[in-house]
Amino acid sequence: MRMTVLGTGYLGATHAACMADLGHEVLGVDVDPSKLAKLEAGEVPFYEPGLQEVLKRNIDQGRLKFTDSYAEAADFADVHFLAVGTPQKRGEYAADLSYVDSVVEGISGLISRPSIIFGKSTVPVGTAERLGRRARELARDGVEIEVAWNPEFLREGHAVDDTLRPDRLVIGVDSSQPTRAEEVAREIYSDAIANGTPIVITNLATAELVKASANAFLATKISFINAIAEVCEAAGGDVTELADAIGYDDRIGRKFLNAGIGFGGGCLPKDIRAFMARAGELGANEALSFLREVDQINMRRRARMVEMAREACGGTLLGSRIGILGASFKPDSDDVRDSPALNVAGQIQLNGAAVSVYDPKAMENSRRLFPTLDYAASAFDACQSADVVLVLTEWQEFIRLDPKQLSETVRSRKVIDGRNCLDFDRWRAAGWNCRSLGRP
Ligand code: UDX
Repeated sequence: MRMTVLGTGYLGATHAACMADLGHEVLGVDVDPSKLAKLEAGEVPFYEPGLQEVLKRNIDQGRLKFTDSYAEAADFADVHFLAVGTPQKRGEYAADLSYVDSVVEGISGLISRPSIIFGKSTVPVGTAERLGRRARELARDGVEIEVAWNPEFLREGHAVDDTLRPDRLVIGVDSSQPTRAEEVAREIYSDAIANGTPIVITNLATAELVKASANAFLATKISFINAIAEVCEAAGGDVTELADAIGYDDRIGRKFLNAGIGFGGGCLPKDIRAFMARAGELGANEALSFLREVDQINMRRRARMVEMAREACGGTLLGSRIGILGASFKPDSDDVRDSPALNVAGQIQLNGAAVSVYDPKAMENSRRLFPTLDYAASAFDACQSADVVLVLTEWQEFIRLDPKQLSETVRSRKVIDGRNCLDFDRWRAAGWNCRSLGRP
């Protein structure tokens, strides 16, 4: 099939490359010329394992092209995926919908044959219906434009696999209008469906809510275990052993029960806030008030990490040296949006310590977002003369570090594991004083 992907950021670039890999002919559309130049050259503008190969292969084989022209997009295909960002509005909880709005405004009047726009972005419930109305208002006489919703569940670091082999497909359709969306979606995703991927066909509001509630559930699960970690700290329990034990119950499951400095990134934090804001607008404020607590527990973990670093420095951070391992919001990603690691690094610096940060992939993005932090060229360099080492992102490189070797560079052998990822037996055997969140 022929299709366009409108917006070639993280989600759009992955979706475009993967759809081409399934054999579709894909045109990626973006307004940012530097992003387009990179993509056209087969370069992924961010770090995502495996995506570079998929992108390059499909460009070379002629199935994937890019443009900045909506007119070309409208002409190229009658199926369009909407994959632009919906960031948090400045100073508010609500999502900023200006990018989704501007794409629909930009393309609808240029479409000259019956077409479907599948929204993939995470949006407040009610957006799809509103965009559908707007697209029909702007459509040329006699041209039907349908807006359907096909939320994306991909995780950074696993984006290619999650797109090619999703857990489930969700298609929201507006059944008050004539609709072809289900039939077209079944054709687009025929490989995954043939491999047994469940497909849920529902209405627009449900499809939008599926995404918001999936992310709210994941955030709640992480904050749940982090709240239990606080109790473990007070009572002398071990949250990782506890998570293993409760996780054996398959109604609970072990995934997303890793306690530590909590969730960050471009999705979970802003999505739970936008979900609360939308529920409030709908008069269902109380229904999601627990998410405020989820958010607060999450932010408290960052503060606790700073507190533990202060304790390890003998009660004040002023004048001490802290080596920080990890800047991205999670491993296998260079994304530093709302990164707990950088937030902790920034707070520690504000408290008068000298911090030196190292991350295997996120140095460039970190420097751009937090130019006042000091950055080191390696884990070893970041820990030079450190009074305390903090592990804030669970990269394999840090899990595999040799504590004996690291002993030679630090001033004091103290490590705090913010992700419960280190093998403390090895570190203690090398003479380190080890602490972590939620463990004795
Ligand atoms: C998330 C959802 O998982 C995905 O389905 C959705 O499409 C987009 O948002 P992503 O932002 O890539 O994906 O990250 P995810 O793997 O969910 O991790 C989010 C944050 O939670 C990270 O900061 C991670 O370190 C943290 N986390 C995750 C924990 O603190 N503990 C855990 O047990 C799991």
